[in-house]
Order: sequence, then structure tokens, then C-alpha cells
Amino acid sequence: MLNISKIENMEKDGPREPIPETTLPSPFDDYFLSSLRPSDFPRLVELYNADLAFILFSPPYPYTLDDAQWFNDNRAHTRFPSYPGTQEAWVIRSKSYDGVLVGICGTHPVPGQSEHHFRLGYFLAPEFRGKGIMSTVVAEVLKKFPGAIFDAEAEVANLGSQKVLENCGFQHIEDGGFEETWPASKGGGVRQLLKFVRRG
Ligand SMILES: CC(C)(COP(=O)(O)OP(=O)(O)OC[C@H]1O[C@@H](n2cnc3c(N)ncnc32)[C@H](O)[C@@H]1OP(=O)(O)O)[C@@H](O)C(=O)NCCC(=O)NCCS
Repeated sequence: MLNISKIENMEKDGPREPIPETTLPSPFDDYFLSSLRPSDFPRLVELYNADLAFILFSPPYPYTLDDAQWFNDNRAHTRFPSYPGTQEAWVIRSKSYDGVLVGICGTHPVPGQSEHHFRLGYFLAPEFRGKGIMSTVVAEVLKKFPGAIFDAEAEVANLGSQKVLENCGFQHIEDGGFEETWPASKGGGVRQLLKFVRRG
């Protein structure tokens, strides 16, 4: 079972030392991983109300500043003491664009599973896609969770996301495919998804 006492939450425990920033290896050393900041909230609203609304199942739509505040207060800064120096939301930023939020890689605890079991999710802003950034981001994030198990899902049609997972050591679960009914406000329809797992 998920050991809640082992998951520290920013809200309950108050402010703490920020997670140190991690610069990605060359040739992606313009990008670094950091924590969510309140100044990112308008950027999240902009991105989640654009094409991500139709790609990502979980975020509310329309996405508001209140949703960003909730994510900040309840999820983004969750710490995992079994993996020191980790957090739930890894914000990818660009140095040459003044630290703008380029995307997020989420390492989410899985309810009902051990504190060593996570679900991976990620996105990039449209202008940063197609450059190979996310495989490097995921590889760097996974290094921070040695021995952990990660689940991930990708739409059958999302070949780029599947390739990112394969690049980072995830295996496609052969009989794990499933259907998801998308909310009508987010494009609707029944979509085919694939499951992947990476065992540390
Ligand atoms: C999916 C996403 C994270 C991919 O990240 P990225 O850094 O842009 O990845 P790239 O487009 O550079 O492609 C990564 C790999 O997939 C391959 N790829 C990309 N699109 C492909 C396609 N349509 N067909 C086949 N391969 C494809 C690339 O060639 C590359 O392969 P390589 O690692 O062997 O060089 C990014 O496009 C994104 O944020 N999309 C919107 C949100 C999203 O889909 N999130 C995931 C939900 S499961």
C-alpha cells in the first residue's frame, strides 16, 4: 500500500529548501529541471488550454489559474523521502528563453502501490517539440529514482511519446492495451492506449 506518511507535502510541512536545479547533458544543456513557481501559472493556463487540452486526459479543461494554484499546493512539490532530492513535478526550463517553462515531467505516486511505484507523464510546449528533448529529460529524471518501478501510457497514435519511453528503457506491455473515453470538452471519442513499464 502507498505509505502516505512517507510522502511529504509542501502544504502540510510549510516551505522548505528548493530542489537543486539539474542542467541536462549536452547537446541539451540550454535546458534545466527545476520546481514549479507561481510565475509559471499563466504559462500553464496558456498551454493546457491549447492543443494539450486534446492530448492529455487528466488536466481540467478549461484550465484556470485556480487549477494551477491547486496543482502547486497539492501535487507539484510532493517529496518522496525514499528518493532524496525528488519532487512530483519536474519543470523543464530554457536558459536562453529566460527560464520559460518548456514543459513538465511528472513522477506521480500510484495510489494503492508501494512508495517505489510511480506513473510517468510529460509534455512539451509546441515550439520545443521535435528536437529530442524529452528522452533526455526522462533519462535524467529516472536517474533520481534508482530501483523504482515506473508505469506510463501513450496513445497508439502518439508514436513520438512511445519512442521516448522505449529510448528510456520502458517496455510495452503486450496485453496491456485499453480504451479510454475522452471527455467531450477535450475532443471526445474513444481512444486506444498502450501501457508501458520500466522496472528499476
Ligand atoms: C510526445 C513528446 C513528449 C515527445 O517529445 P519530443 O522531445 O518532442 O520528442 P521528438 O519529437 O523529438 O521525438 C522523439 C523520438 O520519437 C520519434 N518520433 C517522433 N514523432 C514520430 C512519428 N510520428 N513517428 C515515428 N517516430 C516519431 C523521433 O524520431 C525521435 O526518435 P529518436 O529518439 O530515435 O531520435 C512531445 O511531442 C509532446 O510534448 N507532445 C504533446 C504532449 C504529449 O503527447 N505528451 C505525452 C502524452 S502520452
